Amino acid sequence: MINFCKEKRLIYISINLSILVILFHWNCVFMEYYHQEKNVEEYIRMAKGFDGQKIISELIKYFPLGSSVLELGMGPGTDLILLKQYYNPIGSDYSEIFIDRYRKKHPNTDLFVLNAVTLETDRKFQGIYSNKVLIHLTRDELKQSIIRQIDVLEPNGIICHSFWVGDREENYHGLRFVYYTVKQLRALFKDKFNIITIDKYQEIEPDDSVFLIARKK
Ligand SMILES: C[S@@+](CC[C@H](N)C(=O)[O-])C[C@H]1O[C@@H](n2cnc3c(N)ncnc32)[C@H](O)[C@@H]1O
Repeated sequence: MINFCKEKRLIYISINLSILVILFHWNCVFMEYYHQEKNVEEYIRMAKGFDGQKIISELIKYFPLGSSVLELGMGPGTDLILLKQYYNPIGSDYSEIFIDRYRKKHPNTDLFVLNAVTLETDRKFQGIYSNKVLIHLTRDELKQSIIRQIDVLEPNGIICHSFWVGDREENYHGLRFVYYTVKQLRALFKDKFNIITIDKYQEIEPDDSVFLIARKK
């Protein structure tokens, strides 16, 4: 009888351990990439030395200084700091980890958690900016995002977004990368926005990136 109880207890413990192991793996595989601390740290390390200065220098030609601009997917906040030199930027990201990290260093910054697909906010902005963020959305999610961007923009509002150039999709540890050609971007944005400029530039290799600046119709 004693042995039987012991055996039952062992079986019970090993089942619980197996469940824990399965849950741990499930979490690692299916939890969104940027919602894990170690991935956020890896991104911050990898992105050192890169910023959106080139794009912002173009943006200031068309977008009045001092305007309010919502940054989607601000990540570590490198571009938010650059935008502050010209505009009244509001930072956002769907990863609380990025938001919390930035808030700790810059406690008085206007920041909030926001998904770039649904843009669930009642606030309105004169501009919306993102640097290599909408590349993580599916092609359908990007269409959804464009419709929501129209809703949260003031009349004549401006958008400025960057993408990787290409015509393919990739997956890195569960993180989606969707590449766009200039033609595809024009087709996606042209119904809701007057495109001001759409130009390729170099992030790592010549013409590997493209930015688009457009005005709400
Ligand atoms: C490649 S990083 C770019 C970060 C920053 N813009 C930069 O240039 O360093 C992509 C960023 O987009 C955010 N992101 C990805 N999908 C998102 C979504 N659906 N809504 C909001 N942010 C998202 C990630 O959390 C991450 O901060």
